[in-house]
Amino acid sequence: MRGAKTVSPQNHVNPTASSSKSKRTQLPQRQKASGEGAALYKNKKYRRLVSRERVTAQFQQPQQVSRDILNAAWSAHNQGKTPWGKNHALLVKGGQLGQVSNHISLHSQALKQPLATNKGEIEQQGRQVIDNLQKGFNELSQLLDQQGGMMHPTEFQQLNGLLRTFHNEQKLMLQVMDDPGVASVAGSLDLTQAMELKRLGYDLTPTMVKHFSSFNDSQLIRGSDQNFGSGAIHSVTKLQFQTSTGVVEKIFKGDDPVDPCPFDSITGAKNYLDKSKPRFATRNFAAAKFDNLLGTGLMPEMELTVHDGQVGVLMDVAKGVKPYDQSTNQYNWTPVEDDSQPQKAAKIQEQLNSAEWLDGICAQQDRHPGNLFIDPEDGKVTLIDNDMGFYPGLHQVRTPSKPGGFRRFAGSTAGLPSVIDARVYEKLMSITPAQIHQQMDGLITREEAKSTISRVKELQSHASMLASNGRVIENWQQWKDPSTGLNAAQFQRHHAPDSYLLSVQGQSQGL
Ligand SMILES: Nc1ncnc2c1ncn2[C@@H]1O[C@H](COP(=O)(O)OP(=O)(O)O)[C@@H](O)[C@H]1O
Ligand SMILES: [Mg+2]
Repeated sequence: MRGAKTVSPQNHVNPTASSSKSKRTQLPQRQKASGEGAALYKNKKYRRLVSRERVTAQFQQPQQVSRDILNAAWSAHNQGKTPWGKNHALLVKGGQLGQVSNHISLHSQALKQPLATNKGEIEQQGRQVIDNLQKGFNELSQLLDQQGGMMHPTEFQQLNGLLRTFHNEQKLMLQVMDDPGVASVAGSLDLTQAMELKRLGYDLTPTMVKHFSSFNDSQLIRGSDQNFGSGAIHSVTKLQFQTSTGVVEKIFKGDDPVDPCPFDSITGAKNYLDKSKPRFATRNFAAAKFDNLLGTGLMPEMELTVHDGQVGVLMDVAKGVKPYDQSTNQYNWTPVEDDSQPQKAAKIQEQLNSAEWLDGICAQQDRHPGNLFIDPEDGKVTLIDNDMGFYPGLHQVRTPSKPGGFRRFAGSTAGLPSVIDARVYEKLMSITPAQIHQQMDGLITREEAKSTISRVKELQSHASMLASNGRVIENWQQWKDPSTGLNAAQFQRHHAPDSYLLSVQGQSQGL
């Protein structure tokens, strides 16, 4: 234990407080501060390796961790000072944990700072962050080297985990510093946002900056966050924000650093997204762009925010009911074919059909009837959970899988739609490849945009074919198919067994 002095944890947490009193007890610097962590950022080869690595673990609640470590520091300190004498090891432990807590607290404060305004300053800012983490790392590893053997296995494991966390945070900081786009986001993101984007596999671009919401945890009504719903994979949280005009409710869905979904088993791994960085949030934004281009208005408002240190999608609360509830395996009635409300039924039918076109463009694979809402009051349809689309290898609109295989997911596409709304037809036919590249820039990869162009072309020629058969619908209440005389709902019942119209009623051949 040579070299380590026994000091109270308080002195480390508040190194500047009451200097006259604490002078005697302050810990001497173990290493020169400027040299700490230098090995990391001065080593170009290491930096190149780190910039390619995926660091996916999140440092959850650093403030809380800092407080917990401080409590542990005090407890070691108090136990070390008994009426019968001093336990040197415990006092040293108390002092070192106090230091560790302090470095975590400094890190947590640094995370709230905006990224500096140019690349050179970001480098300096990053080096400070890395140095501070390195000091925490060194303090903690010294403690574990000297006293790890005496610790309870749980404590040892937790502290060891913290060592890894320090290291991960350093790497994420390096990834920010070395991101080719860092200069373009300088001053526009804070450190949490920038490091979270790297953890989630995003490039730092102005496009990402633009998507950040003005709603964040600073306006969150404390204690308002509650678990709101769960799907097969994720849980979402409802958040309430205080604004000058009242309380706003939103849904938050944390983004995934790695893909937890089994869709590669359906599409084939070679067609699928990069599982090590699925980038679900931007797939949602890409889908919203096409919702806009088609004029369909089917998606909730979606933005990025940070909640509890995690970046995710913040969206409007969809109104109405889910036609299918996965948690109870029940279908809910909606007025989709309600003869007593023909206008509302027609409106819902129109939107469900438009959703087929939109999902076809996006190669949406997960549109089971638990991923949409229908409002029985006004007939509004809202498509949620737009994560699973824009795979690079899906050049064609996938025909629905027939029974067998992974049924839970296999039936969730409608394939090529059987009819089209007149307004959607106009908009669809006007979409150009250049427009797609321009709109998708920064949201999906070039490969993903190329396969989208090919699906749009396929859907455009399919729509032309429908037009020549009189299947472009101007008025959904009155339309009759020219060759069969069937109305919109009847026609889909006979000719579109995988249509969303049937799917929301539990009558499709798919899910
Ligand atoms: N914008 C939203 N509005 C209302 N409810 C939502 C919204 N987003 C998600 N939910 C609820 O949370 C559940 C899980 O969200 P979802 O995105 O479908 O997760 P998963 O990826 O696991 O399927 C949904 O089934 C729904 O009940
Ligand atoms: Mg879902």
